[in-house]
Amino acid sequence: MSIHSKAKRITTHTLHEMKEAGEKIAMLTGYDFSMARILDDVGIDIILVGDSASNVMAGHETTLPITLDQMIYHASSVVRAVSKALVVVDLPFGSYQGNSKLALESAVRIMKESGAHAVKMEGGEEIGDSISRILSAGVPVMGHLGLTPQSIYKFGTYVVRAKEEEEAMKLKSDAILLQELGCFSLVLEKIPANLAMEVSQSLKIPTIGIGAGHGTDGQVLVVHDALGITHDFHPRFLRRYLNLYEQIHTAVENYIKDVRSGDFPNENEQY
Ligand code: KIV
Repeated sequence: MSIHSKAKRITTHTLHEMKEAGEKIAMLTGYDFSMARILDDVGIDIILVGDSASNVMAGHETTLPITLDQMIYHASSVVRAVSKALVVVDLPFGSYQGNSKLALESAVRIMKESGAHAVKMEGGEEIGDSISRILSAGVPVMGHLGLTPQSIYKFGTYVVRAKEEEEAMKLKSDAILLQELGCFSLVLEKIPANLAMEVSQSLKIPTIGIGAGHGTDGQVLVVHDALGITHDFHPRFLRRYLNLYEQIHTAVENYIKDVRSGDFPNENEQY
């Protein structure tokens, strides 16, 4: 029996055991009660309440506008649905960078008000103080390196990161630093597969990749992308497991037709 199926609840410790045993970790994003209930029932290891909620739930172009209050709202909805998965919540833009006291306050609010199990933060050495302070309060931290969407205006583009030697070297030293500080895991987003594999093999903590190839210890996708609710987004790394946009489109078309024709509700669908 796998470590995942033996575990009553997935903890940061379970994830370390999975890495040691060579068992891959499956993570998806989740932002609401109903979807989180399905993901947890199926047996997902980690639900990430990502700040991608800013895009797929609120319709913003970037992840920057979402607030700490909004993240707490999404996180508490997910926590109410979950009995097994580890729930990790993104600290949103502006709630931790450059100010470790603010960072700790933000993380404490997430943990207290949502009941989530860990936070995720984007960046390396430049946010080391904030990571350390949060960890010192006993809050588990997942790091995030590579393409970090909260810095999109610094990058100017969503292309693959760390293709050049200098950026790859910084990423490798940031990964080691995050492990030394005490992060329990690391997201590697949109970097060359060889680099992601090298980093994953050099660390004791598990890495979770998105657009980072098969050499990481786990994978994450935005659930709206994996299920095909979004339909105008086609990065090479994305595998769509459903085309819900088309299926919902057809279902709603049928509903409108039935209402307009008077076919719905019928004799058996009324009191
Ligand atoms: O916010 C998010 O969904 C994320 C994942 C893409 C890793 O950070």
